[in-house]
Amino acid sequence: MLPRGAFSCAAGACCRRRFSAKSHYDETVVYKYASQMINPVSIGQLLKYRRLPLSADNILDSVSYTQAELPVRLAKRVISFHRLPFIVGTNPHIAQVYSHYYEAFDRLYAFPPITDLDAEWEFTRTLEQQTQLLVDVIPEIAQGFLECKQYMPREERTAFISDLIRSRIGLRVIGEQHVALSFQFRDEQGACGQRLPPGEQRQHQQQQPGQQAPAVWAMDDVWVGAIHTKLLPAQMMTQCAQMVQNMCEMYYSTAPTYYVDGDVDETISYIPSHFEYITCELLKNAFRATVDFSARSGRSAHPPIQITITKGDGYVGVRIRDQGGGISKSNMRNVFEYSWSSMQAEDAAAELGSGGASAAGMSLQTNLALQQGVGGPIAGLGFGLPMARLYAEYFGGSLDIVSMEGYGCDVFLKLRSIEGSVEQKQI
Ligand SMILES: Nc1ncnc2c1ncn2[C@@H]1O[C@H](COP(=O)(O)OP(=O)(O)O)[C@@H](O)[C@H]1O
Ligand SMILES: [Mg+2]
Repeated sequence: MLPRGAFSCAAGACCRRRFSAKSHYDETVVYKYASQMINPVSIGQLLKYRRLPLSADNILDSVSYTQAELPVRLAKRVISFHRLPFIVGTNPHIAQVYSHYYEAFDRLYAFPPITDLDAEWEFTRTLEQQTQLLVDVIPEIAQGFLECKQYMPREERTAFISDLIRSRIGLRVIGEQHVALSFQFRDEQGACGQRLPPGEQRQHQQQQPGQQAPAVWAMDDVWVGAIHTKLLPAQMMTQCAQMVQNMCEMYYSTAPTYYVDGDVDETISYIPSHFEYITCELLKNAFRATVDFSARSGRSAHPPIQITITKGDGYVGVRIRDQGGGISKSNMRNVFEYSWSSMQAEDAAAELGSGGASAAGMSLQTNLALQQGVGGPIAGLGFGLPMARLYAEYFGGSLDIVSMEGYGCDVFLKLRSIEGSVEQKQI
Protein backbone atom coordinates (compact mmCIF):
# COMPACT_ATOMS: atom_id res chain seq x y z
CA MET A 1 0.00 0.00 0.00
CA LEU A 2 1.38 3.39 -0.94
CA PRO A 3 1.76 5.93 1.84
CA ARG A 4 -0.69 8.70 1.22
CA GLY A 5 1.97 11.35 1.28
CA ALA A 6 3.87 9.51 -1.48
CA PHE A 7 1.69 11.12 -4.10
CA SER A 8 2.53 14.60 -5.16
CA CYS A 9 0.70 16.56 -7.78
CA ALA A 10 3.05 17.19 -10.70
CA ALA A 11 0.91 19.75 -12.50
CA GLY A 12 -0.08 22.67 -10.34
CA ALA A 13 -2.98 23.57 -12.62
CA CYS A 14 -4.93 20.49 -11.61
CA CYS A 15 -5.00 21.54 -7.98
CA ARG A 16 -7.35 24.41 -8.65
CA ARG A 17 -10.58 22.48 -8.91
CA ARG A 18 -10.44 18.75 -8.41
CA PHE A 19 -7.15 18.14 -6.82
CA SER A 20 -8.09 19.33 -3.39
CA ALA A 21 -6.54 17.69 -0.38
CA LYS A 22 -9.88 15.98 0.07
CA SER A 23 -10.00 14.30 -3.34
CA HIS A 24 -6.32 13.49 -2.83
CA TYR A 25 -6.90 11.62 0.40
CA ASP A 26 -10.40 10.37 -0.23
CA GLU A 27 -9.92 7.06 -1.94
CA THR A 28 -13.57 6.06 -2.01
CA VAL A 29 -14.00 7.67 -5.44
CA VAL A 30 -11.15 5.67 -6.90
CA TYR A 31 -12.51 2.47 -5.40
CA LYS A 32 -15.98 3.25 -6.71
CA TYR A 33 -14.70 3.62 -10.26
CA ALA A 34 -12.35 0.67 -9.95
CA SER A 35 -15.25 -1.60 -8.98
CA GLN A 36 -16.97 -0.99 -12.32
CA MET A 37 -16.50 -3.38 -15.24
CA ILE A 38 -14.47 -2.20 -18.18
CA ASN A 39 -16.26 -2.06 -21.48
CA PRO A 40 -13.87 -3.43 -24.13
CA VAL A 41 -14.00 -2.02 -27.62
CA SER A 42 -12.76 -3.63 -30.83
CA ILE A 43 -10.17 -1.92 -32.98
CA GLY A 44 -12.71 -2.14 -35.82
CA GLN A 45 -15.19 -0.08 -33.77
CA LEU A 46 -12.52 2.50 -33.03
CA LEU A 47 -11.68 2.72 -36.71
CA LYS A 48 -15.28 3.03 -37.86
CA TYR A 49 -15.14 6.80 -38.43
CA ARG A 50 -12.19 6.49 -40.70
CA ARG A 51 -12.61 8.32 -44.02
CA LEU A 52 -16.06 9.62 -43.02
CA PRO A 53 -16.66 13.33 -42.94
CA LEU A 54 -17.15 13.59 -39.18
CA SER A 55 -20.26 15.10 -37.64
CA ALA A 56 -20.67 16.70 -34.22
CA ASP A 57 -22.71 13.62 -33.21
CA ASN A 58 -19.80 11.33 -34.14
CA ILE A 59 -17.49 13.33 -31.90
CA LEU A 60 -19.94 13.42 -29.01
CA ASP A 61 -20.50 9.70 -29.43
CA SER A 62 -16.77 9.06 -29.30
CA VAL A 63 -16.21 11.32 -26.29
CA SER A 64 -19.06 9.73 -24.40
CA TYR A 65 -17.41 6.28 -24.63
CA THR A 66 -13.97 7.71 -23.83
CA GLN A 67 -15.24 9.71 -20.88
CA ALA A 68 -17.07 6.75 -19.41
CA GLU A 69 -14.31 4.23 -20.03
CA LEU A 70 -10.96 5.78 -19.22
CA PRO A 71 -11.59 6.74 -15.56
CA VAL A 72 -12.63 3.15 -14.84
CA ARG A 73 -9.48 1.76 -16.43
CA LEU A 74 -7.28 4.36 -14.71
CA ALA A 75 -8.88 3.70 -11.33
CA LYS A 76 -8.15 -0.03 -11.67
CA ARG A 77 -4.48 0.77 -12.25
CA VAL A 78 -4.38 3.16 -9.28
CA ILE A 79 -5.75 0.43 -7.06
CA SER A 80 -3.21 -2.06 -8.39
CA PHE A 81 -0.46 0.28 -7.13
CA HIS A 82 -2.12 0.38 -3.71
CA ARG A 83 -1.71 -3.39 -3.52
CA LEU A 84 2.04 -3.31 -4.02
CA PRO A 85 4.14 -4.09 -0.97
CA PHE A 86 4.81 -0.90 0.98
CA ILE A 87 8.53 -0.84 0.22
CA VAL A 88 7.90 -1.21 -3.51
CA GLY A 89 5.23 1.51 -3.56
CA THR A 90 7.59 3.97 -1.87
CA ASN A 91 10.30 3.51 -4.48
CA PRO A 92 10.60 6.99 -6.07
CA HIS A 93 10.31 5.70 -9.65
CA ILE A 94 7.24 3.64 -8.91
CA ALA A 95 5.68 6.42 -6.84
CA GLN A 96 6.26 8.76 -9.78
CA VAL A 97 4.39 6.48 -12.18
CA TYR A 98 1.61 6.06 -9.62
CA SER A 99 1.29 9.83 -9.45
CA HIS A 100 0.82 10.02 -13.24
CA TYR A 101 -1.99 7.47 -13.08
CA TYR A 102 -3.63 9.15 -10.13
CA GLU A 103 -3.46 12.52 -11.77
CA ALA A 104 -4.87 11.20 -15.05
CA PHE A 105 -7.76 9.62 -13.14
CA ASP A 106 -8.35 12.70 -11.04
CA ARG A 107 -8.36 15.06 -14.01
CA LEU A 108 -10.63 12.93 -16.18
CA TYR A 109 -13.26 11.53 -13.83
CA ALA A 110 -14.31 14.96 -12.58
CA PHE A 111 -15.54 16.24 -15.95
CA PRO A 112 -19.33 16.59 -15.95
CA PRO A 113 -21.13 14.64 -18.71
CA ILE A 114 -20.24 16.22 -22.04
CA THR A 115 -23.08 17.43 -24.21
CA ASP A 116 -21.53 20.14 -26.38
CA LEU A 117 -18.42 20.62 -28.47
CA ASP A 118 -16.81 23.23 -26.24
CA ALA A 119 -16.84 20.89 -23.27
CA GLU A 120 -15.65 18.09 -25.55
CA TRP A 121 -12.70 20.22 -26.64
CA GLU A 122 -11.75 21.01 -23.06
CA PHE A 123 -11.88 17.32 -22.21
CA THR A 124 -9.87 16.41 -25.29
CA ARG A 125 -7.06 18.81 -24.44
CA THR A 126 -6.87 17.41 -20.91
CA LEU A 127 -6.96 13.88 -22.27
CA GLU A 128 -4.15 14.69 -24.67
CA GLN A 129 -1.95 15.98 -21.83
CA GLN A 130 -2.68 13.00 -19.64
CA THR A 131 -2.08 10.33 -22.29
CA GLN A 132 1.20 12.08 -23.06
CA LEU A 133 2.25 11.70 -19.42
CA LEU A 134 1.62 7.96 -19.60
CA VAL A 135 3.84 7.59 -22.66
CA ASP A 136 7.08 7.80 -20.73
CA VAL A 137 6.34 5.59 -17.75
CA ILE A 138 8.11 2.42 -18.92
CA PRO A 139 11.73 3.37 -18.19
CA GLU A 140 10.56 4.58 -14.75
CA ILE A 141 8.78 1.32 -14.06
CA ALA A 142 11.76 -0.67 -15.30
CA GLN A 143 14.15 1.27 -13.09
CA GLY A 144 11.80 1.00 -10.12
CA PHE A 145 11.48 -2.77 -10.34
CA LEU A 146 15.17 -3.18 -10.96
CA GLU A 147 15.74 -1.46 -7.63
CA CYS A 148 13.22 -3.45 -5.66
CA LYS A 149 12.66 -6.75 -7.44
CA GLN A 150 13.81 -8.65 -4.36
CA TYR A 151 10.77 -7.42 -2.45
CA MET A 152 8.19 -9.15 -4.62
CA PRO A 153 7.85 -12.75 -5.77
CA ARG A 154 8.56 -13.17 -9.47
CA GLU A 155 5.02 -14.23 -10.45
CA GLU A 156 3.42 -11.25 -8.69
CA ARG A 157 5.90 -8.85 -10.22
CA THR A 158 5.34 -10.27 -13.70
CA ALA A 159 1.57 -10.11 -13.29
CA PHE A 160 1.66 -6.51 -12.07
CA ILE A 161 3.95 -5.29 -14.84
CA SER A 162 2.19 -7.22 -17.62
CA ASP A 163 -1.24 -5.94 -16.53
CA LEU A 164 0.09 -2.40 -16.32
CA ILE A 165 1.58 -2.55 -19.80
CA ARG A 166 -1.43 -4.24 -21.41
CA SER A 167 -3.86 -1.79 -19.86
CA ARG A 168 -1.62 1.10 -20.88
CA ILE A 169 -1.85 -0.01 -24.51
CA GLY A 170 -5.66 0.05 -24.27
CA LEU A 171 -5.70 3.41 -22.50
CA ARG A 172 -3.44 4.98 -25.05
CA VAL A 173 -5.18 3.58 -28.09
CA ILE A 174 -8.62 4.68 -26.85
CA GLY A 175 -7.38 8.08 -25.66
CA GLU A 176 -5.27 8.87 -28.72
CA GLN A 177 -8.04 7.69 -31.01
CA HIS A 178 -10.48 10.19 -29.56
CA VAL A 179 -7.91 13.00 -29.59
CA ALA A 180 -7.15 12.28 -33.26
CA LEU A 181 -10.85 12.25 -34.19
CA SER A 182 -11.46 15.51 -32.37
CA PHE A 183 -8.56 17.17 -34.22
CA GLN A 184 -9.70 15.68 -37.50
CA PHE A 185 -13.21 17.02 -36.94
CA ARG A 186 -11.94 20.54 -36.30
CA ASP A 187 -9.62 20.25 -39.22
CA GLU A 188 -12.56 19.34 -41.47
CA GLN A 189 -14.48 22.27 -40.04
CA GLY A 190 -11.55 24.51 -40.95
CA ALA A 191 -11.08 25.49 -37.33
CA CYS A 192 -7.94 23.58 -36.59
CA GLY A 193 -5.30 25.98 -37.85
CA GLN A 194 -4.72 27.64 -34.49
CA ARG A 195 -5.68 24.67 -32.40
CA LEU A 196 -3.22 22.04 -33.60
CA PRO A 197 -0.47 21.85 -31.00
CA PRO A 198 2.80 23.06 -32.47
CA GLY A 199 4.44 19.62 -32.44
CA GLU A 200 1.53 17.75 -34.01
CA GLN A 201 2.67 17.64 -37.63
CA ARG A 202 6.27 17.32 -36.62
CA GLN A 203 5.43 14.41 -34.37
CA HIS A 204 4.00 12.50 -37.30
CA GLN A 205 7.04 13.19 -39.38
CA GLN A 206 9.43 12.26 -36.59
CA GLN A 207 8.02 8.80 -36.34
CA GLN A 208 9.12 8.14 -39.92
CA PRO A 209 12.16 10.34 -40.40
CA GLY A 210 13.47 10.40 -43.89
CA GLN A 211 10.13 9.24 -45.22
CA GLN A 212 9.01 11.24 -48.20
CA ALA A 213 5.26 10.76 -48.10
CA PRO A 214 3.90 10.54 -51.63
CA ALA A 215 1.69 13.51 -52.47
CA VAL A 216 -1.36 11.21 -52.60
CA TRP A 217 -1.12 10.49 -48.86
CA ALA A 218 -3.20 12.95 -46.99
CA MET A 219 -2.12 12.81 -43.31
CA ASP A 220 -5.41 11.36 -42.15
CA ASP A 221 -5.27 8.63 -44.80
CA VAL A 222 -2.07 7.44 -43.22
CA TRP A 223 -2.83 7.95 -39.54
CA VAL A 224 -5.88 6.56 -37.80
CA GLY A 225 -5.43 7.80 -34.28
CA ALA A 226 -2.28 6.13 -33.01
CA ILE A 227 -2.19 3.67 -35.92
CA HIS A 228 -0.08 4.29 -39.00
CA THR A 229 -1.62 2.43 -41.91
CA LYS A 230 1.36 2.50 -44.26
CA LEU A 231 4.30 1.90 -42.01
CA LEU A 232 7.40 0.75 -43.86
CA PRO A 233 9.19 -1.78 -41.62
CA ALA A 234 12.42 -1.55 -43.62
CA GLN A 235 12.51 2.18 -43.13
CA MET A 236 11.65 1.95 -39.46
CA MET A 237 14.33 -0.71 -38.93
CA THR A 238 16.94 1.41 -40.69
CA GLN A 239 16.03 4.39 -38.56
CA CYS A 240 16.17 2.36 -35.34
CA ALA A 241 19.40 0.59 -36.32
CA GLN A 242 21.02 3.95 -37.03
CA MET A 243 19.95 5.25 -33.64
CA VAL A 244 21.13 2.14 -31.81
CA GLN A 245 24.40 2.15 -33.71
CA ASN A 246 25.00 5.72 -32.47
CA MET A 247 24.12 4.69 -28.92
CA CYS A 248 26.48 1.74 -29.17
CA GLU A 249 29.24 3.94 -30.53
CA MET A 250 28.77 6.40 -27.67
CA TYR A 251 28.70 3.74 -25.01
CA TYR A 252 31.36 1.29 -26.25
CA SER A 253 33.30 3.57 -28.64
CA THR A 254 32.75 0.97 -31.34
CA ALA A 255 29.76 -0.53 -33.15
CA PRO A 256 29.06 -3.12 -35.85
CA THR A 257 27.51 -2.21 -39.18
CA TYR A 258 24.09 -3.47 -40.28
CA TYR A 259 22.12 -4.00 -43.42
CA VAL A 260 18.44 -4.44 -44.21
CA ASP A 261 17.30 -6.87 -46.90
CA GLY A 262 14.26 -8.92 -47.97
CA ASP A 263 10.87 -7.38 -48.76
CA VAL A 264 12.00 -3.85 -48.13
CA ASP A 265 8.97 -2.21 -49.80
CA GLU A 266 6.44 -4.04 -47.63
CA THR A 267 4.06 -1.90 -45.55
CA ILE A 268 2.07 -2.74 -42.44
CA SER A 269 -0.65 -1.08 -40.43
CA TYR A 270 0.72 -0.71 -36.90
CA ILE A 271 1.35 1.61 -33.97
CA PRO A 272 4.75 3.13 -34.80
CA SER A 273 5.77 3.70 -31.18
CA HIS A 274 5.27 -0.04 -30.50
CA PHE A 275 7.18 -1.03 -33.60
CA GLU A 276 9.95 1.34 -32.64
CA TYR A 277 10.10 0.10 -29.06
CA ILE A 278 10.27 -3.57 -30.06
CA THR A 279 12.86 -3.18 -32.77
CA CYS A 280 15.08 -0.80 -30.81
CA GLU A 281 15.19 -3.26 -27.91
CA LEU A 282 16.04 -6.19 -30.18
CA LEU A 283 18.69 -4.17 -31.97
CA LYS A 284 20.24 -2.92 -28.72
CA ASN A 285 20.64 -6.55 -27.68
CA ALA A 286 22.19 -7.53 -31.02
CA PHE A 287 24.62 -4.58 -31.07
CA ARG A 288 25.64 -5.02 -27.47
CA ALA A 289 26.16 -8.79 -27.85
CA THR A 290 28.26 -8.32 -31.00
CA VAL A 291 30.60 -5.78 -29.40
CA ASP A 292 30.83 -7.81 -26.24
CA PHE A 293 31.61 -11.06 -28.07
CA SER A 294 34.23 -9.36 -30.25
CA ALA A 295 35.99 -8.26 -27.07
CA ARG A 296 35.72 -11.68 -25.47
CA SER A 297 36.77 -13.68 -28.52
CA GLY A 298 39.47 -11.24 -29.65
CA ARG A 299 38.18 -10.99 -33.21
CA SER A 300 39.51 -8.03 -35.14
CA ALA A 301 36.28 -6.78 -36.75
CA HIS A 302 32.61 -6.95 -35.82
CA PRO A 303 30.47 -9.03 -38.17
CA PRO A 304 27.49 -7.00 -39.45
CA ILE A 305 23.97 -7.38 -38.12
CA GLN A 306 21.54 -8.64 -40.72
CA ILE A 307 17.94 -7.43 -40.64
CA THR A 308 15.62 -9.29 -42.99
CA ILE A 309 12.00 -8.31 -43.69
CA THR A 310 9.53 -10.84 -45.05
CA LYS A 311 5.98 -10.40 -46.18
CA GLY A 312 3.34 -12.81 -44.92
CA ASP A 313 -0.42 -13.01 -45.24
CA GLY A 314 -1.63 -10.18 -42.95
CA TYR A 315 1.68 -9.91 -41.15
CA VAL A 316 5.27 -8.84 -41.54
CA GLY A 317 8.17 -10.96 -40.35
CA VAL A 318 11.49 -9.54 -39.21
CA ARG A 319 14.60 -11.58 -38.50
CA ILE A 320 17.53 -9.97 -36.72
CA ARG A 321 20.65 -12.09 -37.06
CA ASP A 322 23.76 -11.35 -35.05
CA GLN A 323 27.06 -13.05 -34.36
CA GLY A 324 27.21 -11.93 -30.77
CA GLY A 325 28.00 -15.30 -29.22
CA GLY A 326 24.40 -16.37 -28.53
CA ILE A 327 22.75 -17.01 -25.18
CA SER A 328 23.80 -19.83 -22.87
CA LYS A 329 21.28 -22.53 -22.04
CA SER A 330 21.09 -21.45 -18.42
CA ASN A 331 20.54 -17.76 -19.29
CA MET A 332 17.91 -18.66 -21.89
CA ARG A 333 15.55 -19.60 -19.05
CA ASN A 334 15.70 -16.03 -17.69
CA VAL A 335 15.87 -13.73 -20.66
CA PHE A 336 12.11 -13.18 -20.94
CA GLU A 337 11.82 -12.39 -17.24
CA TYR A 338 11.29 -8.75 -16.21
CA SER A 339 14.31 -7.11 -14.55
CA TRP A 340 16.70 -9.92 -15.50
CA SER A 341 19.78 -8.80 -17.36
CA SER A 342 23.18 -10.41 -17.86
CA MET A 343 24.54 -6.89 -17.46
CA GLN A 344 23.56 -6.94 -13.80
CA ALA A 345 25.35 -10.24 -13.32
CA GLU A 346 28.48 -8.92 -15.05
CA ASP A 347 28.30 -5.70 -13.13
CA ALA A 348 27.89 -7.46 -9.82
CA ALA A 349 30.91 -9.62 -10.63
CA ALA A 350 32.93 -6.56 -11.64
CA GLU A 351 31.89 -4.75 -8.48
CA LEU A 352 33.10 -7.63 -6.37
CA GLY A 353 36.48 -7.47 -8.04
CA SER A 354 36.89 -3.71 -8.10
CA GLY A 355 35.49 -2.47 -4.84
CA GLY A 356 32.24 -1.00 -6.17
CA ALA A 357 32.99 0.14 -9.70
CA SER A 358 32.03 -1.75 -12.85
CA ALA A 359 34.37 -2.68 -15.67
CA ALA A 360 33.63 0.69 -17.27
CA GLY A 361 34.60 2.39 -14.02
CA MET A 362 30.99 3.24 -13.06
CA SER A 363 28.36 1.58 -10.94
CA LEU A 364 25.45 -0.04 -12.76
CA GLN A 365 23.11 2.71 -11.58
CA THR A 366 25.44 5.43 -12.90
CA ASN A 367 25.83 3.53 -16.14
CA LEU A 368 22.10 3.33 -16.59
CA ALA A 369 21.55 6.95 -15.66
CA LEU A 370 24.04 8.08 -18.29
CA GLN A 371 22.46 6.17 -21.12
CA GLN A 372 19.59 7.39 -23.23
CA GLY A 373 17.42 5.92 -25.94
CA VAL A 374 13.95 4.73 -26.90
CA GLY A 375 12.71 2.66 -23.96
CA GLY A 376 15.84 3.37 -21.88
CA PRO A 377 19.53 2.48 -21.91
CA ILE A 378 21.39 0.10 -24.21
CA ALA A 379 21.13 -2.69 -21.63
CA GLY A 380 20.78 -3.37 -17.93
CA LEU A 381 17.11 -2.81 -17.13
CA GLY A 382 16.10 -6.29 -18.22
CA PHE A 383 12.86 -5.05 -19.77
CA GLY A 384 13.72 -5.25 -23.46
CA LEU A 385 12.76 -8.83 -24.30
CA PRO A 386 9.75 -9.35 -22.02
CA MET A 387 8.17 -6.06 -23.06
CA ALA A 388 8.96 -6.53 -26.74
CA ARG A 389 7.25 -9.93 -26.60
CA LEU A 390 4.24 -8.55 -24.75
CA TYR A 391 3.85 -5.74 -27.31
CA ALA A 392 4.20 -8.18 -30.22
CA GLU A 393 1.69 -10.65 -28.76
CA TYR A 394 -0.84 -7.95 -27.88
CA PHE A 395 -1.89 -7.66 -31.52
CA GLY A 396 -1.48 -11.36 -32.30
CA GLY A 397 2.20 -11.38 -33.24
CA SER A 398 5.11 -13.31 -31.74
CA LEU A 399 8.73 -13.02 -30.70
CA ASP A 400 11.13 -15.98 -30.60
CA ILE A 401 14.85 -16.37 -30.19
CA VAL A 402 17.01 -19.14 -31.56
CA SER A 403 20.44 -19.10 -30.01
CA MET A 404 23.57 -20.87 -31.24
CA GLU A 405 25.77 -20.71 -28.22
CA GLY A 406 29.25 -19.57 -29.11
CA TYR A 407 28.07 -18.09 -32.42
CA GLY A 408 25.03 -15.79 -32.31
CA CYS A 409 21.27 -15.34 -32.21
CA ASP A 410 18.43 -15.23 -34.68
CA VAL A 411 15.51 -13.26 -33.34
CA PHE A 412 12.21 -13.80 -35.14
CA LEU A 413 9.54 -11.13 -34.84
CA LYS A 414 6.13 -11.47 -36.41
CA LEU A 415 3.74 -8.51 -36.34
CA ARG A 416 0.13 -8.69 -37.49
CA SER A 417 -1.22 -5.81 -39.48
CA ILE A 418 -3.75 -4.05 -37.23
CA GLU A 419 -6.06 -2.93 -39.97
CA GLY A 420 -7.48 -5.92 -41.76
CA SER A 421 -6.08 -8.76 -39.69
CA VAL A 422 -6.72 -7.76 -36.06
CA GLU A 423 -9.67 -5.40 -36.30
CA GLN A 424 -11.71 -7.79 -34.18
CA LYS A 425 -9.21 -7.54 -31.35
CA GLN A 426 -10.90 -6.19 -28.22
CA ILE A 427 -8.92 -3.74 -26.19
N1 LIG B 1 20.96 -11.05 -29.36
C1 LIG B 1 21.40 -11.42 -28.16
N2 LIG B 1 22.61 -12.02 -28.02
C2 LIG B 1 23.06 -12.41 -26.80
N3 LIG B 1 22.37 -12.25 -25.66
C3 LIG B 1 21.16 -11.67 -25.74
C4 LIG B 1 20.60 -11.22 -26.98
N4 LIG B 1 19.39 -10.71 -26.73
C5 LIG B 1 19.19 -10.81 -25.41
N5 LIG B 1 20.23 -11.37 -24.80
C6 LIG B 1 20.37 -11.66 -23.34
O1 LIG B 1 19.10 -11.48 -22.76
C7 LIG B 1 19.20 -10.60 -21.63
C8 LIG B 1 17.90 -9.85 -21.42
O2 LIG B 1 17.68 -8.96 -22.49
P1 LIG B 1 16.75 -7.69 -22.26
O3 LIG B 1 15.44 -8.14 -21.76
O4 LIG B 1 16.78 -6.93 -23.52
O5 LIG B 1 17.46 -6.91 -21.08
P2 LIG B 1 18.82 -6.07 -21.08
O6 LIG B 1 19.20 -5.84 -22.51
O7 LIG B 1 18.48 -4.82 -20.35
O8 LIG B 1 19.83 -6.92 -20.38
C9 LIG B 1 20.40 -9.73 -21.95
O9 LIG B 1 20.97 -9.21 -20.75
C10 LIG B 1 21.32 -10.71 -22.65
O10 LIG B 1 22.04 -11.47 -21.69
MG1 LIG C 1 17.99 -5.37 -23.99
